[in-house]
Amino acid sequence: MSELVMTTDRERPFDPPDRIAGLGGEAPLHRLTFADGHEGWLVTGYTAARAILADPRFSNRPEFTHPTIPARAEVAEKLRGREFAVPGFFLRMDAPEHTRYRKLLTGQFTVRRMKQLEPRVEEITHARLDALAAAGRPADLVEHFALPIPSLVICELLGVPYEDRERFQSYSRALLALESGADEVIDAMRSMTGYLYDLIQRKRAEPQDDLISGLVQGGELADDELTGVAFLLLVAGHETTANMLGLGTYALLRNPDQLAAMRDDPSVVDNGVEELLRYLTIIHIGPIRSALEDVEVEGVMVRKGQSVAFSLPVVNRDPARFPGGDSLDLARPAGGHLTFGHGIHQCLGQQLARIEMRIGFPALLRRFPGLRLAVPPEEVPMRTDMSIYGVHRLPVTW
Ligand code: HEM
Repeated sequence: MSELVMTTDRERPFDPPDRIAGLGGEAPLHRLTFADGHEGWLVTGYTAARAILADPRFSNRPEFTHPTIPARAEVAEKLRGREFAVPGFFLRMDAPEHTRYRKLLTGQFTVRRMKQLEPRVEEITHARLDALAAAGRPADLVEHFALPIPSLVICELLGVPYEDRERFQSYSRALLALESGADEVIDAMRSMTGYLYDLIQRKRAEPQDDLISGLVQGGELADDELTGVAFLLLVAGHETTANMLGLGTYALLRNPDQLAAMRDDPSVVDNGVEELLRYLTIIHIGPIRSALEDVEVEGVMVRKGQSVAFSLPVVNRDPARFPGGDSLDLARPAGGHLTFGHGIHQCLGQQLARIEMRIGFPALLRRFPGLRLAVPPEEVPMRTDMSIYGVHRLPVTW
């Protein structure tokens, strides 16, 4: 029996937990005990992670995968047999079911389509910087900057009223909190689907120039499928980039020479954002896949039915792929990191996330050249209790 269990507790804010970080350079796969007692694997090697994520013999369907976190085991148990799957939530589907949704959406998220959004992202960013200045010192960067930018952008893109943010942000918080009980998660899922289902009815009655209206009018998806698609996009679209902006700023504040490079040298920005994505790897307890048949991965036999969890923060510091990867170096060739995943589920919103960060970090640092923490570092509340890592708040002054 393996002693290794998944953990999100950290000794240092930017480094993976010591318990699993040390495994990175040792072997690509390690025996892992899942929260429901299942004996599966933890992937910490870069080439193994890429291979498994691209392999159709590994499934992402919820009925095959085992949870790594105890609170999630209770949720999985309660959902089992209740037929509470969200149709349209294509992240948890395999091909060819997944392909149908992905194809419908790919056209909406092309590099070109996202480029067209750039001027609007600029406007939103500058408006939030004004709001931050107006809030006065000290201020919480998450509240005034890191959360509202991606939230406003995804709301506009999808056609979700930003005025409703308190509702959907509270549902999304309950879904992502690792300590949420099963009933809380199920309630949040119900509330979110109810809210989005109603919104879709309104879009059907009065279509507007937004992505959800476009999908409604396309006529290929039923309302419950549209609800699941909107659910996935809304949660994935604001929580993730928000945490990169918050945690990324914190990491830059703790690495002043890197901060100066991001602020002063435009040629650093694109790769610098990739390096922040790699170094911080905010998706810290997923993904998980399960073998549909026996598969050998780098000399290890993963048996049919076994689940494989990934530690992307550890994978992204595999010394064989990213030598010296424990430090933040905006000049390091960081391309090829797995922060957006890999294979058929590779992040649909990655270009949008990149645009928000490439605009957001330099704009913030130029507008507030004296930006600094307003509390001692040990008082910054870290999101070790959430499935997406980051800072709960980032008190700053300037
Ligand atoms: C820094 C920001 C982001 C990070 C780190 C991130 C990370 C990821 C990862 C790791 C996956 C793959 C999960 C898996 O394979 O199990 C994923 C999938 C996905 N992401 Fe993102 N994401 C980010 C931003 C966004 C944004 C802004 C959107 C929305 C517009 C978005 C929408 C999606 C969707 C729809 C999927 C599912 C794709 C599929 O199953 O085909 N993400 N993301």
